[in-house]
Amino acid sequence: MGITVIGSLNYDLDTFTDRLPDAGETFRANRFETHAGGKGLNQAVAIGKLKRPSSNYSVRMIGNVGNDAFGEQLKGVLNDSSVDTTHVSTCEGISTGTATILIEEKSGGQNRILIVEGANGKTVYDSRQLSRIFPEDKVEEEYVVFQHEIPDPISIIKWLHENRPNFRVVYNPSPFKAMDREDWELIDLLVVNEIEALQILETIFDYKFVEEIKERISDDFIGEYRKVCEVLHKTLIDHKKKGTVVMTLGSRGVLFCSYEDPRVQFLPAIKDVCVVDTTGAGDTFLGALVTQLYQGEKLPVAIKFSTLASSLTIQKKGAAESMPAFESVQNCMK
Ligand code: RIB
Ligand code: NA
Repeated sequence: MGITVIGSLNYDLDTFTDRLPDAGETFRANRFETHAGGKGLNQAVAIGKLKRPSSNYSVRMIGNVGNDAFGEQLKGVLNDSSVDTTHVSTCEGISTGTATILIEEKSGGQNRILIVEGANGKTVYDSRQLSRIFPEDKVEEEYVVFQHEIPDPISIIKWLHENRPNFRVVYNPSPFKAMDREDWELIDLLVVNEIEALQILETIFDYKFVEEIKERISDDFIGEYRKVCEVLHKTLIDHKKKGTVVMTLGSRGVLFCSYEDPRVQFLPAIKDVCVVDTTGAGDTFLGALVTQLYQGEKLPVAIKFSTLASSLTIQKKGAAESMPAFESVQNCMK
């Protein structure tokens, strides 16, 4: 069938400013804009836009919006990116999720995000509903992508593990939420940033081990995170002997390792790009990565494609709308 994203849809309220106000301070920002967002929607749009046009697998979004103008607009953005919205439901009496985003223009487009979950809080399914969303008779490989802007992705992951064991589970623990060790073992492709990676270690291993890593990070940033990546892979994700860990390190680059090649490799980020707005960079990266792996690319090639895709996203304003199409990224690969 293809790739399914289960997650959040947000209406992003973006304020561009030179600096952030202090408590009790008021001053003029530079600009206000609204954009389609939410980690679920962003990743689905990235997958829809970045899948190879000649391939004919489907991309679906599963989630909820409120019965308001925002919700309709967000569904439109998904449809325009060839994402099926049959399972995006409209909930009565609750608003579409929103994200208030402050973008610091003088500090490289860094953002700070406050989300109000709204209808995303209704993205909960029982086993009857899940059987309908994932009919049993599918023989082709299927990827299911999760983030943590809905109440309980783990119970859906557990259901898939028990009922659809051939599906590959992709998880982006953002915003971070602690989980039991066994739950991390249900994930086939873990995509984390460096902060989330340490948060996972802190909840699973003893405090001292993580504190020691943190102390050494300033001396050898890449070297220490290499170890973090290796520990995550060996102890949690490669449990089923097919796991992959990808760790994004912002403007530094990406670390990755997999069952096929457990050595941790590093790909530096693309230098000298004119950063306008980093919102959705991580979601573009993840979406690109999932399409590439689904299409059978080797991990290092997939990582390069994804790095290029997210470097194009940060050069434009907004999240989903700033994502490039497959051809624009493919041209940069040459
Ligand atoms: O990852 C970026 C996204 O996080 C934004 O679009 C915002 O909606 C929040 O969910
Ligand atoms: Na952007």
